[in-house]
Amino acid sequence: MKPYLIGTAVLGLAASVAFAEGVVHSTGNTPGFPKAYKDLAKQTKPPSNNWLLDANDDTERFRRLQVAMSGTDVPMWEITYRYEELYVAIQKNNWEMGVYHWDKVRDRMNTSGMKRPARTRNIEGMFLDSGVWQSMRDALTAKSPEKMREQFLTVRKVCMACHVAEKVGFLNDSSVFKRTESFPPSDK
Ligand code: HEC
Repeated sequence: MKPYLIGTAVLGLAASVAFAEGVVHSTGNTPGFPKAYKDLAKQTKPPSNNWLLDANDDTERFRRLQVAMSGTDVPMWEITYRYEELYVAIQKNNWEMGVYHWDKVRDRMNTSGMKRPARTRNIEGMFLDSGVWQSMRDALTAKSPEKMREQFLTVRKVCMACHVAEKVGFLNDSSVFKRTESFPPSDK
Protein backbone atom coordinates (compact mmCIF):
# COMPACT_ATOMS: atom_id res chain seq x y z
CA MET A 1 0.00 0.00 0.00
CA LYS A 2 1.31 3.45 -0.88
CA PRO A 3 1.92 5.73 2.12
CA TYR A 4 -0.91 8.14 1.22
CA LEU A 5 -3.34 5.23 0.94
CA ILE A 6 -2.31 3.98 4.37
CA GLY A 7 -2.80 7.55 5.66
CA THR A 8 -6.27 7.73 4.15
CA ALA A 9 -7.18 4.33 5.57
CA VAL A 10 -6.02 5.37 9.06
CA LEU A 11 -7.97 8.65 8.82
CA GLY A 12 -11.04 6.79 7.61
CA LEU A 13 -10.76 4.39 10.54
CA ALA A 14 -10.38 7.28 12.99
CA ALA A 15 -13.46 8.97 11.53
CA SER A 16 -15.55 5.83 11.73
CA VAL A 17 -14.53 5.35 15.38
CA ALA A 18 -15.39 8.97 16.16
CA PHE A 19 -18.78 9.05 14.49
CA ALA A 20 -20.16 5.56 14.76
CA GLU A 21 -19.09 3.03 17.32
CA GLY A 22 -19.92 -0.62 17.41
CA VAL A 23 -22.97 -1.68 15.45
CA VAL A 24 -23.44 1.27 13.08
CA HIS A 25 -21.74 0.73 9.72
CA SER A 26 -21.41 3.11 6.78
CA THR A 27 -23.90 2.50 3.95
CA GLY A 28 -21.47 3.89 1.41
CA ASN A 29 -24.20 6.27 0.12
CA THR A 30 -23.00 9.61 -1.24
CA PRO A 31 -23.49 12.40 1.36
CA GLY A 32 -25.94 15.13 0.29
CA PHE A 33 -27.57 18.19 1.85
CA PRO A 34 -31.35 17.94 2.44
CA LYS A 35 -33.22 19.84 -0.32
CA ALA A 36 -35.45 21.48 2.30
CA TYR A 37 -32.53 23.60 3.57
CA LYS A 38 -31.54 25.52 0.45
CA ASP A 39 -28.85 27.66 2.12
CA LEU A 40 -26.74 24.58 2.78
CA ALA A 41 -25.95 24.32 -0.92
CA LYS A 42 -23.94 27.56 -0.61
CA GLN A 43 -21.29 25.71 1.41
CA THR A 44 -17.92 25.58 -0.32
CA LYS A 45 -16.84 22.30 1.26
CA PRO A 46 -18.68 19.11 0.30
CA PRO A 47 -21.31 17.73 2.71
CA SER A 48 -19.74 15.79 5.57
CA ASN A 49 -20.38 14.92 9.21
CA ASN A 50 -18.66 18.20 10.14
CA TRP A 51 -21.99 19.97 9.67
CA LEU A 52 -20.93 22.95 11.79
CA LEU A 53 -17.18 23.22 11.28
CA ASP A 54 -17.43 22.97 7.48
CA ALA A 55 -19.91 25.89 7.18
CA ASN A 56 -18.58 28.92 5.28
CA ASP A 57 -18.65 31.31 8.26
CA ASP A 58 -19.77 31.78 11.86
CA THR A 59 -23.07 33.42 10.90
CA GLU A 60 -23.99 30.29 9.00
CA ARG A 61 -22.77 28.14 11.93
CA PHE A 62 -25.06 30.01 14.36
CA ARG A 63 -27.91 29.79 11.88
CA ARG A 64 -27.51 26.02 11.72
CA LEU A 65 -27.41 25.74 15.50
CA GLN A 66 -30.57 27.81 15.76
CA VAL A 67 -32.35 25.50 13.30
CA ALA A 68 -31.10 22.37 15.06
CA MET A 69 -32.09 23.54 18.55
CA SER A 70 -35.81 23.79 17.66
CA GLY A 71 -38.42 26.10 19.20
CA THR A 72 -40.91 25.07 21.88
CA ASP A 73 -41.37 21.40 21.01
CA VAL A 74 -38.11 19.90 22.30
CA PRO A 75 -38.17 22.00 25.52
CA MET A 76 -41.73 20.69 26.01
CA TRP A 77 -40.39 17.10 25.93
CA GLU A 78 -38.00 17.98 28.71
CA ILE A 79 -40.71 19.83 30.63
CA THR A 80 -43.01 16.82 30.24
CA TYR A 81 -40.35 14.42 31.49
CA ARG A 82 -39.66 16.58 34.55
CA TYR A 83 -43.38 17.13 35.20
CA GLU A 84 -43.88 13.38 35.25
CA GLU A 85 -40.85 12.83 37.50
CA LEU A 86 -42.38 15.45 39.82
CA TYR A 87 -45.52 13.30 39.88
CA VAL A 88 -43.34 10.33 40.92
CA ALA A 89 -41.47 12.42 43.52
CA ILE A 90 -44.77 13.47 45.12
CA GLN A 91 -45.91 9.86 45.44
CA LYS A 92 -42.60 8.95 47.06
CA ASN A 93 -42.70 11.99 49.35
CA ASN A 94 -39.31 12.91 47.91
CA TRP A 95 -39.71 16.69 48.01
CA GLU A 96 -36.04 17.33 47.09
CA MET A 97 -36.40 15.37 43.85
CA GLY A 98 -39.57 17.36 43.23
CA VAL A 99 -37.84 20.73 43.74
CA TYR A 100 -34.94 19.59 41.55
CA HIS A 101 -37.24 18.92 38.60
CA TRP A 102 -39.52 21.86 39.29
CA ASP A 103 -36.68 24.42 39.20
CA LYS A 104 -35.54 23.00 35.88
CA VAL A 105 -39.08 23.23 34.49
CA ARG A 106 -38.90 26.99 35.17
CA ASP A 107 -35.51 27.23 33.41
CA ARG A 108 -36.77 25.41 30.35
CA MET A 109 -39.95 27.52 30.23
CA ASN A 110 -37.68 30.57 30.11
CA THR A 111 -35.51 29.19 27.31
CA SER A 112 -38.73 28.42 25.42
CA GLY A 113 -39.70 32.10 25.72
CA MET A 114 -36.25 33.13 24.54
CA LYS A 115 -36.60 30.96 21.45
CA ARG A 116 -40.26 31.77 20.75
CA PRO A 117 -40.88 35.24 22.23
CA ALA A 118 -44.53 35.29 21.13
CA ARG A 119 -45.07 32.60 23.79
CA THR A 120 -43.47 34.59 26.64
CA ARG A 121 -46.70 36.34 27.53
CA ASN A 122 -48.47 33.08 28.41
CA ILE A 123 -45.36 31.38 29.81
CA GLU A 124 -45.04 34.19 32.35
CA GLY A 125 -48.66 35.27 32.68
CA MET A 126 -50.15 31.79 33.07
CA PHE A 127 -47.32 29.74 34.51
CA LEU A 128 -44.25 31.45 35.98
CA ASP A 129 -45.61 34.71 37.39
CA SER A 130 -49.22 33.72 38.07
CA GLY A 131 -48.39 32.06 41.39
CA VAL A 132 -48.83 28.55 39.95
CA TRP A 133 -45.14 27.82 39.72
CA GLN A 134 -44.38 29.30 43.15
CA SER A 135 -47.29 27.53 44.88
CA MET A 136 -46.05 24.17 43.59
CA ARG A 137 -42.58 24.94 44.89
CA ASP A 138 -43.96 26.08 48.27
CA ALA A 139 -46.03 22.89 48.57
CA LEU A 140 -42.88 20.84 48.01
CA THR A 141 -40.73 22.72 50.51
CA ALA A 142 -43.61 22.57 53.03
CA LYS A 143 -43.27 18.77 52.67
CA SER A 144 -47.03 18.44 52.73
CA PRO A 145 -48.27 15.38 50.80
CA GLU A 146 -51.80 16.84 50.56
CA LYS A 147 -50.67 20.26 49.32
CA MET A 148 -48.25 18.69 46.84
CA ARG A 149 -51.00 16.54 45.33
CA GLU A 150 -53.50 19.36 45.21
CA GLN A 151 -51.03 21.78 43.64
CA PHE A 152 -49.80 19.22 41.11
CA LEU A 153 -53.33 18.78 39.80
CA THR A 154 -53.62 22.58 39.47
CA VAL A 155 -50.35 22.62 37.51
CA ARG A 156 -51.73 19.96 35.18
CA LYS A 157 -54.77 22.13 34.49
CA VAL A 158 -52.59 25.16 33.76
CA CYS A 159 -50.37 23.20 31.36
CA MET A 160 -53.51 22.26 29.46
CA ALA A 161 -55.05 25.75 29.64
CA CYS A 162 -51.88 27.20 28.12
CA HIS A 163 -52.09 24.73 25.24
CA VAL A 164 -55.59 26.01 24.56
CA ALA A 165 -54.43 29.65 24.86
CA GLU A 166 -51.55 28.94 22.44
CA LYS A 167 -53.98 27.27 20.01
CA VAL A 168 -52.49 23.78 20.42
CA GLY A 169 -55.31 22.42 22.57
CA PHE A 170 -55.28 19.20 20.54
CA LEU A 171 -52.09 18.35 22.46
CA ASN A 172 -54.12 17.88 25.61
CA ASP A 173 -54.79 14.33 24.40
CA SER A 174 -51.05 13.64 24.97
CA SER A 175 -50.67 10.46 27.01
CA VAL A 176 -48.88 12.24 29.88
CA PHE A 177 -52.04 14.08 30.92
CA LYS A 178 -53.97 10.81 31.22
CA ARG A 179 -51.17 9.22 33.24
CA THR A 180 -51.11 12.13 35.67
CA GLU A 181 -54.83 12.89 36.00
CA SER A 182 -55.06 11.67 39.61
CA PHE A 183 -53.03 10.09 42.40
CA PRO A 184 -53.65 6.49 43.45
CA PRO A 185 -55.32 6.65 46.90
CA SER A 186 -53.30 3.70 48.26
CA ASP A 187 -50.15 5.68 47.72
CA LYS A 188 -50.67 8.30 50.42
C1 HEC B 1 -46.89 28.90 26.92
C2 HEC B 1 -47.89 28.03 27.45
C3 HEC B 1 -47.52 26.59 27.73
C4 HEC B 1 -47.38 26.04 28.97
C5 HEC B 1 -47.48 26.71 30.31
C6 HEC B 1 -47.13 24.64 28.73
N1 HEC B 1 -47.09 24.36 27.40
FE1 HEC B 1 -46.76 22.53 26.56
N2 HEC B 1 -46.73 23.37 24.73
C7 HEC B 1 -46.97 24.70 24.45
C8 HEC B 1 -46.86 24.93 23.03
C9 HEC B 1 -47.04 26.26 22.32
C10 HEC B 1 -46.57 23.68 22.43
C11 HEC B 1 -46.38 23.38 20.93
C12 HEC B 1 -44.94 23.64 20.55
C13 HEC B 1 -44.71 23.77 19.07
O1 HEC B 1 -45.56 24.28 18.36
O2 HEC B 1 -43.61 23.38 18.63
C14 HEC B 1 -46.50 22.72 23.54
C15 HEC B 1 -46.24 21.37 23.38
C16 HEC B 1 -46.33 20.43 24.38
C17 HEC B 1 -46.26 19.00 24.20
C18 HEC B 1 -46.02 18.28 22.88
C19 HEC B 1 -44.52 18.24 22.64
C20 HEC B 1 -44.11 17.50 21.38
O3 HEC B 1 -43.88 18.17 20.34
O4 HEC B 1 -44.02 16.28 21.41
C21 HEC B 1 -46.40 18.41 25.43
C22 HEC B 1 -46.41 16.92 25.76
C23 HEC B 1 -46.54 19.49 26.39
N3 HEC B 1 -46.52 20.69 25.73
C24 HEC B 1 -46.65 19.30 27.75
C25 HEC B 1 -46.73 20.34 28.69
C26 HEC B 1 -46.74 20.16 30.13
C27 HEC B 1 -46.66 18.82 30.84
C28 HEC B 1 -46.82 21.40 30.68
C29 HEC B 1 -46.90 21.80 32.12
C30 HEC B 1 -45.86 21.35 33.02
C31 HEC B 1 -46.87 22.35 29.57
N4 HEC B 1 -46.81 21.68 28.39
C32 HEC B 1 -47.00 23.72 29.75
C33 HEC B 1 -47.28 25.70 25.36
C34 HEC B 1 -47.30 25.54 26.74
